[in-house]
Amino acid sequence: MSLRLGDQAPDFTAETTEGQIDFHRWKGDSWAVLFSHPADYTPVCTTELGRTAALRSGFEARGTKVIALSVDPIEDHHGWAPDIADATGTELNFPIIADPDKQVSELYDMIHPGEGDTSTVRSVFVIDAGNKIRLILTYPKSTGRNFDEILRVIDSLQLTDDYEVATPVDWVKGDRVIASPGMSTDDARERFDNVEEVKPYLRYVDDPRS
Ligand code: BEZ
Repeated sequence: MSLRLGDQAPDFTAETTEGQIDFHRWKGDSWAVLFSHPADYTPVCTTELGRTAALRSGFEARGTKVIALSVDPIEDHHGWAPDIADATGTELNFPIIADPDKQVSELYDMIHPGEGDTSTVRSVFVIDAGNKIRLILTYPKSTGRNFDEILRVIDSLQLTDDYEVATPVDWVKGDRVIASPGMSTDDARERFDNVEEVKPYLRYVDDPRS
C-alpha cells in the first residue's frame, strides 16, 4: 500500500529494543518520527542514529517521539547500540524496531526493490498527534539525512496548524512567515504584525507567536 500525506498512519505491533510496542499506544497523542535505515553495523546509519539521539531535547520540545526501524533482528540492534554510543558520543535514547519479517516495512512501503536488495531505504514519516501522516521523505541508502531539517518541518507544521500562515524557503523558527495566500492584505494587517507586501500574493509577517 502506498501511503500519502493526510493518510492515517497504520498501526502495528512490533518488537523493539525497548520491548514489544503497539505503535499507536506507544505514540499516544504525541507527534512521532518513524524512520527506517538500511542495516545495522553500517557507517551512515551509525551517524544518523547517533545524531538523532543527540537531538532528543529538540524532539521533546516539539512533543515528538522518535522510533527507528530496520529489517535486522533484535539481537543485532542490541549488539550495535554500544557502537553507536562509542562512535558518536551519544547513547541511543529511542527504540529501534526489529522487522525481520518485513511486516512494518511493507506496511509503510519502506522497501524499494530497485535499490538493490530487500532492506529498507531511508524513509521518514512525520505523524501528528491525531495519527495523520504529515511528511514523507525517501532518501537513497548512500545519503545520510539531515535531522535538523526534520525538526524544521515539524516546527513549520505545528505553526501552520495553529495560524493562517505558511513558511518560506529555508525558514527556521523565529524567522518571518508568510500570510496564507487566501487572505487579503487588509486581513493580514489586522491579524499580524509588521506586514510587508512584496507582491499582492507574497506578504511577510512576524511570527504570530513572537
Ligand atoms: C550505511 O549506512 O553506511 C549504508 C547502508 C547501505 C548502503 C550504503 C551505506
